[in-house]
Amino acid sequence: MQEQIKKINTLEELQALYTATFGKNGTMTARLKEMKNMDNDARAAINRENVELRELFKIRQAELENAAMMAGLQKQKLDVSLNKEPENAGTLHPITRSLVDIAGILESFGYEMWTGPEIEDDWHNFTALNTPEYHPARDMQDTFFLENGNVMRTQTSAIQIRSMEKKGAPIKMFGIGATYRKEMDATHGPMFHQIEGLYIDKNVTMADLIGDVKEFLKRFFNINDLELRIRPSYFPFTEPSIEIDMKWQGKKWLELMGAGMVHPNVLRNCNINPEEYQGFAFGFGWDRLAMLKYGLNDLRKMFDGDVRWLKNAGF
Ligand code: PHE
Repeated sequence: MQEQIKKINTLEELQALYTATFGKNGTMTARLKEMKNMDNDARAAINRENVELRELFKIRQAELENAAMMAGLQKQKLDVSLNKEPENAGTLHPITRSLVDIAGILESFGYEMWTGPEIEDDWHNFTALNTPEYHPARDMQDTFFLENGNVMRTQTSAIQIRSMEKKGAPIKMFGIGATYRKEMDATHGPMFHQIEGLYIDKNVTMADLIGDVKEFLKRFFNINDLELRIRPSYFPFTEPSIEIDMKWQGKKWLELMGAGMVHPNVLRNCNINPEEYQGFAFGFGWDRLAMLKYGLNDLRKMFDGDVRWLKNAGF
């Protein structure tokens, strides 16, 4: 019987033999019944055999169950070599992709990234930036006004005010985000993006500003012999104010950004003492930088959400 059990190859056969041995009319059941008329030695022999057989059944059952499970798993094996057309996977939008570079460079200079609300109050978008009501410079930006007197943020400079109010000086940050102006022509839409750097500390000068901007542009565009042109300009929140142009591919000058030393009034509005601290700010069109880098030419197309255009542009 012991050998027989070991040779059984299916659970069904094993079950049948088990029933034939231990069931109501089983052989072992019968022998156990007869035991009471036997002497001690014979009883002990039957008991031993009973225990041994039950154990052998159990072992064989476990072996057969295990084999059945392995066979099942073999059958379920995945064929990972299946031929399939690649999925239409998404990619990062040019704006997002350029941010990875821009933020990486500015953060390596020690600037910290900030965001702020796109619906701004008058204080953060204008007044604190030394542009009080009736200041003529308010007309520099065609503003969308909301009924409650708030505005659609016209410049990321509003984020600078928020960062200085919150953190005070010294501070080294850049604000990123969408900005809104009533502009609509062949290449401009009412929404575009800006990035703006700010560095306030005890001995910050215009030379630091130009140094950081130059190094930033070199790294972003991967140009070693970068040529810059600095022109005087006007912004209410910087004094002196400048405009920074860059020589593009050895040919024409491109206007890239506005910048300047932060006006003492702006620092005072943020509870920073201009006798103790000074610094610079620079701001540029984030979209424009991305378009230059990737060779794109229509700002509006960037935000149409037309996948065919993005794919064509290499995204
Ligand atoms: N906020 C200005 C603009 O939108 C740009 C700027 C930023 C100028 C910081 C000077 C300093 O035109």
